[in-house]
Amino acid sequence: MAENGNDRAGVSSYSDVNDPRAVVSRSKFLTGATIGLGGLIGVAVAVPVLGFVLGPSFTTEDWYWTSFGAVDNAEYKKGTYVPVIFERGKLGELDRRVAYVRRDGDEEFTIVSNVCMHLGCPVQFKTTGFACPCHGGQYDVEGMRTAGPPIRPLNRFEYKVDNGNLLVGRVFATEEIDGQVVMTDQFKLPGEPVGGLLGWLYPVPS
Ligand code: FES
Repeated sequence: MAENGNDRAGVSSYSDVNDPRAVVSRSKFLTGATIGLGGLIGVAVAVPVLGFVLGPSFTTEDWYWTSFGAVDNAEYKKGTYVPVIFERGKLGELDRRVAYVRRDGDEEFTIVSNVCMHLGCPVQFKTTGFACPCHGGQYDVEGMRTAGPPIRPLNRFEYKVDNGNLLVGRVFATEEIDGQVVMTDQFKLPGEPVGGLLGWLYPVPS
């Protein structure tokens, strides 16, 4: 057996702890192991966090055109809203929604979601606007936030008129632009901002 842990000529096993080469080698090994372990811990922490942040962007709402009846239904009046209860999704009665429908013209409507844009409580129409019973959120007749904690105007539904029927489709976020409520092409949940950096954190579902 050769000195310093050499068990055959030219080949070193670094078995002698007093050999400086063995110390350097162990140090490198520990450094590499620490970096590797740190990386694994980082991945273990980052994956759930990324899932939490990005998860909403990959959720989509079930939707399809839903008939709200004849477009000339006399209940749809100008200047006021009528609530329409309908089912949307796979849960039948458990997945009921409420939309407020206002006639703006023969075949023109404003269809407002009753979901408060603070935490999602159901708002109610009260002649001068919409009111949320949970935390005092207030909206005007266009669904524009006027008071309380909601962060943006009420969502609105897209619609079309087909064969004399009023058909209602997806619900979209709205935003206030120059004092007007403008419907976007994005679906956003209550509390999710539409624009800016925070809006980017809740990207549009595909
Ligand atoms: S949920 Fe409507 S104000 Fe809070």
